[in-house]
Amino acid sequence: MTKILLGQTLSYQKNPFAVPVSEAAQHERRGAVVVENGKIAAIGAADRIRAAWPQAEVTDYGDALISAGFVDAHVHYPQTGIIASWGKRLIDWLNSYTFPEEMRFHDAGYAREIAALYFNLALANGTTTSVSYCTIHPESVDAFFTEARSRGLRALAGKTCMDRNAPEGLRDTPQSAYDDSKTLLQRWHGVDRLSYVITPRFSPTSTPDQLSALGALWGEHPDCLMQTHLSEQTDEIAWVKTLFPSARDYLDTYEMHGLLREGALMGHAIHLEPRERDRLREMDAGLIHCPTSNTFIGSGLFDMAGLMAEGHRVGLATDTGGGSSFSMLRTMAAAYEVGQLNGTPLHASQLWWLATQGAARSLRMEDKIGNLAPGMEADLVVTDLASTPVIAQRANRADTFWDQLFPTIMMGDDRAVKAVWSGGQFQHSA
Ligand code: GUN
Ligand code: ZN
Repeated sequence: MTKILLGQTLSYQKNPFAVPVSEAAQHERRGAVVVENGKIAAIGAADRIRAAWPQAEVTDYGDALISAGFVDAHVHYPQTGIIASWGKRLIDWLNSYTFPEEMRFHDAGYAREIAALYFNLALANGTTTSVSYCTIHPESVDAFFTEARSRGLRALAGKTCMDRNAPEGLRDTPQSAYDDSKTLLQRWHGVDRLSYVITPRFSPTSTPDQLSALGALWGEHPDCLMQTHLSEQTDEIAWVKTLFPSARDYLDTYEMHGLLREGALMGHAIHLEPRERDRLREMDAGLIHCPTSNTFIGSGLFDMAGLMAEGHRVGLATDTGGGSSFSMLRTMAAAYEVGQLNGTPLHASQLWWLATQGAARSLRMEDKIGNLAPGMEADLVVTDLASTPVIAQRANRADTFWDQLFPTIMMGDDRAVKAVWSGGQFQHSA
C-alpha cells in the first residue's frame, strides 16, 4: 500500500558544514513524502506528488515538519534507570552509579524490561536508530536486539567488554569477550535491520590482551563497526597514560591493538592531541559528539568547528545515561550552546543535519538512513514546530523556515514529536 505524508519537508543534498545552507538543504513549505515497501519512493511538492499517486493513502500533518528520523550515535541503554545521577566526574560516576546498575543486567528479565523502556523513550523522542552499548552480559545484547527487531527498527549494539578496573561480577576475560562477542555477532549481525558493533568499553577497563582479542575479532569481521570512548576527561587521559606507558597517546592504545580504522566510532573525543586528530582523519573514523553528557559530567567542549574544518566524520548522540536527555532536540540545543562557548554558533541546518544525516554518515549508513530521498528507508519524525506556548509565539514571528525551526531546537522536547514512522510503519504519536 502506497502512503503519502504531507507537511513541511526537509532534506539535504549536501553537508551544511561544507557548503552554504541554501545549497545544502531543501525545504518545501507544502511537501510530500511517498512511502512504499518500507522505503521512500519520492519526495516533492504536495500537489505534484498527489497528482502522481492518486490512489495512495494520505496522512496530512499540516504545518508540522517531516524529516528523516533522528539517529542517536552513542547511547548506553542499560543506564536508562540512572539518568540524572548527581555530582560526580567520570570515573566516580561510573563506579558509584553505572557499574552497580549494569550489574543487574545478568538478569535477562530486567534487561528486557529496560530495553522496552529505552525504546519507548527513544521513539517518543523521534529517535529511529540508536547505537547502544550493552553490558558485559550477553543477555543484555539479546534483550536489546529482540526488542528492536520486534518493533522493526534499525538498531546497532554490542556487548560491552571489560576485564579490569571494574567490580567483581562485571568483568569478563580476553577469551570470553572474544567468544561471547563472536557468538552475538553471528547471532545478530545483518538480521533484519540489526548490526553488531564490537564494543571495548574504553582502554582503562580493558587489558592490552583484551584489546588485541577484540582487534582480532574486528579483523575477522571487517564490515562491523567498532565503538569505544576516547579522551573524554583530563583525569581519564592521565590514567590511560599510566596504564599504557608505551602508547604515544590515548588513541594509540586502540591503534596498537588493531582498533583504529574506518568504521571506528570514538565517543566524546574532546581533548585530542594534534597527532590524534591527524590520525583519526586519515583513518576516517567517526567522532561522536555527546554534548549533554559532556556538560553534565563536566568533561569539556568538543571542537565541532575545528574538526569539521579538518574534514572529520562527526555524529551527534545523547550518551544516555551520562547524557541528561533522551531528546535529540535537547541534544542539538546543547551542541549549539557548546558551539557558543567555543565562539562558533552552529546554524539550525547544521544542528538538524548532525542529528540525522551526519550521525548516519558517522555510522557509514548514509545510503540507508538519515535523509529524505528516494530509496532511503522510511524512518521519519514528524515535528510540531509550535508544541508549547512559548515555542509557538516565537515561531509565529519567524520570517524564514530556519527561524521557525530554531525555537523548537532550543526549547523542544518529546511534546514536539507528533509522529514517528520506522521502515514505513507507524510507530508512535504524541
Ligand atoms: N567512559 C567509559 N564508560 C563510559 C560510560 O558509560 N559513559 C560515559 N559518558 N563515558 C564512559
Ligand atoms: Zn558512552
